[in-house]
Amino acid sequence: MPSTLLKPEVAERLRLAFDDDRDAETFFLRLDRYGPELLDSLRAVYRERADVLLERLLEIMLHAYHTRPADLKRLDEARLLSPDWLQSPRMVGYVAYADRFAGTLRGVQTHVDYLEGLGVTYLHLMPLLRPRDGENDGGYAVADYRSVRPDLGSLDDLSALARDLRSRGISLVLDLVLNHVAREHEWAERARAGEDQYRDYFHLFADRGLPDAYETTLPEVFPDFAPGNFTWDPEVGEGQDAEEGAGGWVWTTFNTYQWDLNWGNPDVLAEFVDIILNLANRGVEVFRLDAIAFIWKRLGTNSQNQPEVHHLTRALRAAARIVAPAVAFKAEAIVAPGDLIHYLGSGTHHGRVSDMAYHNSLMVQLWSSLASRDTRLMEEALRAFPPKPANTTWGLYVRCHDDIGWAISDTDAARVGISGPGHRHFLSDFYSGEFPGSFARGLVFQFNPATGDRRISGSAASLAGLETALEDGDEIQIELAVQRLLLLHTVILGFGGVPLLYMGDELALPNDSGYADTTEHAADNRWVHRPRMDWALAQEVQAHPDTPAGQVNAGLRCRIAVRKGLPHLHASIESSVIASPDPRVLLLRRDHPLGVLLEIYNFSEERVVLPAFLLRSHLGEDAHDALSGSALHLTRPTLTLTPYRAMWLTAAEVNA
Ligand code: GLC
Repeated sequence: MPSTLLKPEVAERLRLAFDDDRDAETFFLRLDRYGPELLDSLRAVYRERADVLLERLLEIMLHAYHTRPADLKRLDEARLLSPDWLQSPRMVGYVAYADRFAGTLRGVQTHVDYLEGLGVTYLHLMPLLRPRDGENDGGYAVADYRSVRPDLGSLDDLSALARDLRSRGISLVLDLVLNHVAREHEWAERARAGEDQYRDYFHLFADRGLPDAYETTLPEVFPDFAPGNFTWDPEVGEGQDAEEGAGGWVWTTFNTYQWDLNWGNPDVLAEFVDIILNLANRGVEVFRLDAIAFIWKRLGTNSQNQPEVHHLTRALRAAARIVAPAVAFKAEAIVAPGDLIHYLGSGTHHGRVSDMAYHNSLMVQLWSSLASRDTRLMEEALRAFPPKPANTTWGLYVRCHDDIGWAISDTDAARVGISGPGHRHFLSDFYSGEFPGSFARGLVFQFNPATGDRRISGSAASLAGLETALEDGDEIQIELAVQRLLLLHTVILGFGGVPLLYMGDELALPNDSGYADTTEHAADNRWVHRPRMDWALAQEVQAHPDTPAGQVNAGLRCRIAVRKGLPHLHASIESSVIASPDPRVLLLRRDHPLGVLLEIYNFSEERVVLPAFLLRSHLGEDAHDALSGSALHLTRPTLTLTPYRAMWLTAAEVNA
């Protein structure tokens, strides 16, 4: 029975660590399945050090396997029986800061009913492991991966919450910050104390030679508040005496207090395998691989999307699959489509890297089409998107905790006859409210004079025009803003992937301009769209579904329910773009074994008349709109779409 991957003596030693034969068999079967992938990726990255590393990882994995709670082992079995669980239309995500949503982890537990009522099956709680004190990039500067932020609770609270969520069919999702740790993390402290073992966890340089060479091809993530990619640290020099100098340069892609890790060091990988498995044993089901694109550095490149990144992810995933197959990975790689697809696996890695990746491009195109009332660029971008492996899924979102960067490709723009830089300029003007007639109210984030980039912060409701319309008391604009919010959410619910509702958007919460009153947040206007949950409003919308927030809420609930009942939305199927007869309208087609689903989205505040014969060729003469529940006779010459109208059409006989 012992795995063919291992030397007989190693296999025998492992075998002895089991009291139970069936348990051992399960472990070895999984090792046979995922071990070769693991070893292959370790060898690709660490070469002659791979075999020793594998033995070390096996010890870690074995310990985690033995200590994995029985209910989680049961979940593992259940997931193995439904390997497509993340692709199911029943998946609906919700993203929230635990403190802003409910104060503490226990507080979150008291609101699980609310999430359940909304139809949520996937809860991403924003960074909650212990960060450094003071500024910490919203928790993305982790000082300890083995404890919870003290004001939120404890690891036991986390386990209890995960258990409760699990019992209601909700998966807990946490951030795994892999690219960097806080300057206050023990590894960084020990590096500063001169321990060579830990100095090797980071990228440290005695002088500007290499940093300058790297900088020539590196972009800047936060050009405004953290320019450059390296930070001088007075305590990190090799020589500890005054003559040699105690200072040095540290690679810090993000903020000066976030130290990039050296993944070329196998110790770093071993640490993270242990961290992942520990959290998995606490009940975390999905890991959001934060800033994963950046973890491998290479001179002469932008040090993003390097092939080693995918090998490392594949290795981490294989290790997780052996111990905790219930666990899935979501890549946070905000990169060009051609690069993004490798995070889900291409070539020999096909479908073996992350299980899910954010579809940043769709998010950008939604806002772009909303501003221009034109879907041609979105059509082009979606058409050019490489297909994903059939066993993977997208994380689909309208808004998240980050700013919106106008990731519009110049090539796509040129294909539809517009200028990339010109369109990006227009979008920044539009969403900062500077463009004449703009409905949006956002803020410019990280203006970069070198590239002209102006990213945008702002809540979905404020960017969609609700804040301005309410202030003006303009009933028509209020109604249109509500429809815009519903339209964008309907696309993410219908595209094929896990729709991720961002806390507060279900109540159309506007910008929180009070963010600047908090010292640690004042310099980072992304906090304008990280509001506190408004529980009074959450109550009120139930009683008053006719208010703007009530309409958004009721509309979302209804669409979520429809989504869950539509097998056509399984994420193994791609949405393909159908040439639209009208530039204001996006047409998507999904070919499911049960029949075709045709999705129609009007991105304008105008009524649009479509020729019905075009729809007939996809659906036949009689169709059914799952969103409105009504029948449609496509024998009529035209179909009229009201402003921002969305339809999900199936052929009528499917519903007979
Ligand atoms: C990710 C997070 C962002 C954070 C960065 C650094 O992009 O979404 O909020 O600033 O990583 O950790």
